[in-house]
Amino acid sequence: MKVDGTPYRSIWLDRDGWSVRIIDQTKLPWSFEIARLTTLEDAAHAIRAMLVRGAPLIGVTAAYGLCLALRRDASDAALEQAAETLRATRPTAVNLAWALERMLAKLRPAAPSARVELAYAEAAQIAEEDVAQNQAIGRYGLELIAHIASGRPIRILTHCNAGWIATVDWGTALAPIYMAHDQGIPVHVFVDETRPRNQGALLTAWELGKHGVPHTLIVDNAGGHLMQRGLVDLVLVGADRVSRHGDVANKIGTYLKALAARDNSVPFWVAAPASSIDWSIEDGVRDIPIEERPASEVTNVTGRAPDGQVMQVRICPKETPVLNPAFDVTPAHLVSGIITERGRAAASEGGLLSLFPEYR
Ligand code: MRU
Repeated sequence: MKVDGTPYRSIWLDRDGWSVRIIDQTKLPWSFEIARLTTLEDAAHAIRAMLVRGAPLIGVTAAYGLCLALRRDASDAALEQAAETLRATRPTAVNLAWALERMLAKLRPAAPSARVELAYAEAAQIAEEDVAQNQAIGRYGLELIAHIASGRPIRILTHCNAGWIATVDWGTALAPIYMAHDQGIPVHVFVDETRPRNQGALLTAWELGKHGVPHTLIVDNAGGHLMQRGLVDLVLVGADRVSRHGDVANKIGTYLKALAARDNSVPFWVAAPASSIDWSIEDGVRDIPIEERPASEVTNVTGRAPDGQVMQVRICPKETPVLNPAFDVTPAHLVSGIITERGRAAASEGGLLSLFPEYR
């Protein structure tokens, strides 16, 4: 997608052919800064500290992190150790483990001397596939939006950031929205601010603004009210992990939106590529691991002061105890359907297997 007229992806190889360039998402929307990753530690830090975030993007960053590690040491032991380091960075988005397993399957049988070249080729392939998958998700989601179209803008509520900077390009939940907008189908996006880290306010609002998509920022607690008033036609979110039966882990707060959507008969759709489906998990509510993040994300908020300075301020008493689960799981029965790169499926084992019969 374009930033001020220049086409960007969220991750790419530097002109040197080996180091990795990313958009530092911790700086958005205040400034657009490109960071350079040169080591395994750089890649692990970028994922852990959320310079990169979003399930598909952290998978691709982990794949390139392995490439960087192998440049230093391509032995069997170093390969396994690097994969473990990357796997431990963030536990909920299954794309991370998926990308590492795919890389390991390619690299383990190869001679150490051949591994670096193989690793870069596989990481590039994963990145390219991500772009193509998101475009396909965009097309299948666009059909859904076009079906609702009635002459007035389609009002879509989204949570967190599932746009192009959460993937390599296009995004998952935002891909159909970009395509609808580009085709002249009027859309209006309600953007949940998405506490604690405010990915909606900081990132989704930035993305939609840059692309010219009409949108309104709302506090996380406003969605139910808007749905009750008939102001939302569709809820469209991404996913960090989908169970075999269609339970959906996504940013904390997603479940409450699904409950409100059900109570108000608003369709609640999830956009996710196959790399987000964890076929080994039957019961997502019980078994999807939920990342707990630092208390500081809850006790502090980052903002820009009138003098232009970006600063953190504390919003609660110094001693207040905090719990910070970063994701929740929406059970399949609250999900209207899942938009994948192979089409739209019911949120059920049968629905998902009808699109992915190889996992029967
Ligand atoms: O903690 P984050 O910002 O990595 O969480 C991201 C989300 O929850 C996204 O909505 C999800 O990864 C879908 S991504 C395209």
